[in-house]
Amino acid sequence: MKKIVISFSAAAAVILYLIISLFLPETVDVLVIGGGAAGLSAAIEAAEKGADVILLEKMNYLGGNTRRATGGMNAAGTDAQAAAGIEDSIESFFNDTMESGHQMNNEVLVRIMVERSASSVAWLTGFEADLSDVGRLAGHSVSRTHRPRGGAPVGREIVPVLTSKVKALGVDVRTENRATALTSRPGRKGKPAVVTGAYAETNEGREYRIRAKAVVIATGGFGASPELYVRMNPALKGFKTTNHPGANGDYLYLVEGLDAALVDMEFIQTHPTVEPDNGVLITEAIRGNGGILVNSEGWRFTDELGFRDVLSREILAQRAKSANLIFDRNIRDSLTATDTYFALNLISRADKLEDLADLLSINPRGLVEAVARYNSLQAGRGDEDFGRNNLPRSIIDPPFYGIRVAPAVHHCMGGLRINEKTEVLTQSGLPIGGLFAAGEATGGIHAANRLGGNSLTDAVTFGRISGEKAALMAGYTR
Ligand code: FUM
Repeated sequence: MKKIVISFSAAAAVILYLIISLFLPETVDVLVIGGGAAGLSAAIEAAEKGADVILLEKMNYLGGNTRRATGGMNAAGTDAQAAAGIEDSIESFFNDTMESGHQMNNEVLVRIMVERSASSVAWLTGFEADLSDVGRLAGHSVSRTHRPRGGAPVGREIVPVLTSKVKALGVDVRTENRATALTSRPGRKGKPAVVTGAYAETNEGREYRIRAKAVVIATGGFGASPELYVRMNPALKGFKTTNHPGANGDYLYLVEGLDAALVDMEFIQTHPTVEPDNGVLITEAIRGNGGILVNSEGWRFTDELGFRDVLSREILAQRAKSANLIFDRNIRDSLTATDTYFALNLISRADKLEDLADLLSINPRGLVEAVARYNSLQAGRGDEDFGRNNLPRSIIDPPFYGIRVAPAVHHCMGGLRINEKTEVLTQSGLPIGGLFAAGEATGGIHAANRLGGNSLTDAVTFGRISGEKAALMAGYTR
């Protein structure tokens, strides 16, 4: 009898706890939803301003797509550029970003991103991130893509650094906790609604409620959801994706009923060089450091450092609807990021170009001639054939390497419309109270086509702004 009474009261206590946690919310100053570069940066800024912060991340890891980021983070006017003797300017970075985006970008946001880019890099290096190697990705006029020395993958450097900082600041980080809906109250006198917090759910299914003075949405894009990317752009049916499995466009259901404006949703970037069988992104940095693309005839067919939308189209226009990325030992040695592809056994290698061609099932004579021609252009007057603006290395050091590549979905340029304070706007352009957003959940910065290396600049820069503004809204002014 005693046993029954104890288990009955234990069960009653659990039920009471569940009811209380759902109806009596915990309270916090700033709630950040999403634990990629944007969310982590927001949490750090808000906590540094003195705010109490909860960060919800539905996956069992932090980092989101940033964990997979390889090529680097763009910035103009950094110490690393100066040390390497690279001359760059805000104007040049701005113009490259706008040209890549077909001049459809939100100029105000682009200007903020490029002007603060060097300070975003300095902020990360201030936390001991190594971003000392400066390379060039496609579409840039100069080298401004920052990564760890030796050309290591950038995401593996900055996610641990941001995670340590977030934890050191005492942010309440909750992985495997998903925000299921925002809570809000109507705005006064016809103004937009005011967000007051969110409902959340643990992986075990326990639901609870958090009341917050400000909420930052940093849930990333929807590049892991074929249903969504095909709905937004039917031409992407059948495309693989480079995205981590959590990139499912969660912001779309979070803002339901708030009249939030969406912008550029049809602009979804394909990355031109993805290993077609496994969907592994083969970093643009290989081309930036000297690699070339050839078709099944063995011939070059394009400027390998052209904008991603153009390059993706040109690769799909080849007979095989794919291309082959060719590089040599010297290029491999300049980029330890390539180690992953070797470890995964994705790369063919041979001491002679003819043998590499056989392994890749492409025309050996074409490949030998194409590489010889490229080397003579590299040593001479530059790329007279396709106008490539950077030929940093020849392809002469065996072994030679090759891999078949084709475009796959990579980045969602569209998302929530925000202003310069990262406030989420309604369809009529008014800020929704208490709601901020940053990173790939937002749209307008990259427009029709993002420049490689700009997603981290965007996520860190606007993540920081959103954290600062959210803390301000919560009453922290320091
Ligand atoms: O190719 C890459 O490493 C990709 C970089 C990016 O999308 O920013």
